[in-house]
Amino acid sequence: MNVNSVVLKRTFELHKAEYEEAALRALNSGWYILGKEMESFEKEFAEWAGVKHCVALNSGTDALILAVRALGIGPGDEVIVPANAYIASVIGVTENGATPVFVDADEYMEMDADRIEEKITPHTKAVLPVHLFGQSSRMDKITEICRKHGLLLIEDCAQCHGSTYGGQLTGTFGTIGCFSFYPTKPLGAFGDAGAIVTNDDELAERVRLLRNYGSRIKYHNEINGVNSRMDELQAALLKVGLKHMAEGTEERRRQAEAYKAGLRNPKVIIPPVYAAAEHVYHLFPVLVRDRENFLAYLKENGIHTQVHYPIPPYVADCYADLGCHWEDFPNATRYAREEVSLPIYAGLPDEELRYVIDVINRY
Ligand SMILES: Cc1ncc(COP(=O)(O)O)c(C=O)c1O
Repeated sequence: MNVNSVVLKRTFELHKAEYEEAALRALNSGWYILGKEMESFEKEFAEWAGVKHCVALNSGTDALILAVRALGIGPGDEVIVPANAYIASVIGVTENGATPVFVDADEYMEMDADRIEEKITPHTKAVLPVHLFGQSSRMDKITEICRKHGLLLIEDCAQCHGSTYGGQLTGTFGTIGCFSFYPTKPLGAFGDAGAIVTNDDELAERVRLLRNYGSRIKYHNEINGVNSRMDELQAALLKVGLKHMAEGTEERRRQAEAYKAGLRNPKVIIPPVYAAAEHVYHLFPVLVRDRENFLAYLKENGIHTQVHYPIPPYVADCYADLGCHWEDFPNATRYAREEVSLPIYAGLPDEELRYVIDVINRY
């Protein structure tokens, strides 16, 4: 049997007719940028998140870059980021000339909230947790630290749409929440797309300006902006996805439970989940010591997996000037060497899931 880690066509086919109708509506409208589809998506996404504002953008990376910029963070400022994360969160900081300060991961594979305070300096402006794999970071502790030290809280929600901590939705704890709608995400577009959410009127307005060349009125450029607008086609498609997002989450949760109940191989470790967190399982990470052998074995058996992430940002070539080393962050380094993401997505057939469990248990 051949099993892929994600098959986007299957997810699309679950609601094919609705997606096709939405795409044709957007195409037939004759209006493709900054129109009614984007406006209504912003309204629906803000309502879903229970916040005042959503500003629709071109990608999750842009959401992070513009969030940091709109908050006035720049050269000389420091932002505390997790060592175990995707590079885009760090790009959000460095694209603004600010300095990322890494914090190692905890046993849950999230930013270790107990190690944040030791990284705070007079230059620290914000903490930027990444709710990795679909689990929330430890938001009780992180919000308390931000409050105590007067720091801004920027949440990277690229992987966690709908996840909660202590019953509260991720993306709504801090000053601003940054979402990606990259096609594989819990809410995925059919191209690049992203958004920020916030309850701060001025901040929302600033990101709105930044995404459109810094202008409210055509040719009146108030601030130095960029072009980062979500197009009408993606907005129309995302509205369909948003309507069905909870079903997809339920399906992935069911698949995650099947893995937890079925995987019985002491060489394959499933990381724990915080008691207060409701995971949405964007990914299903496991840890395996001899990863290369394990991956080769899975491949021989037709199972294709992914690794998140083999080269963490603190040792990325582009950040060599930060002077970080693998040994600086032992947990993140372990995860970079041992993590394997098993197939999980809305539309994954049960027989493929059972096959993956069976093959792993025979390893
Ligand atoms: C944690 C995290 N942050 C940010 C991003 C960037 O999002 P995008 O690909 O939409 O720019 C991604 C996704 O790829 C991500 O996984």
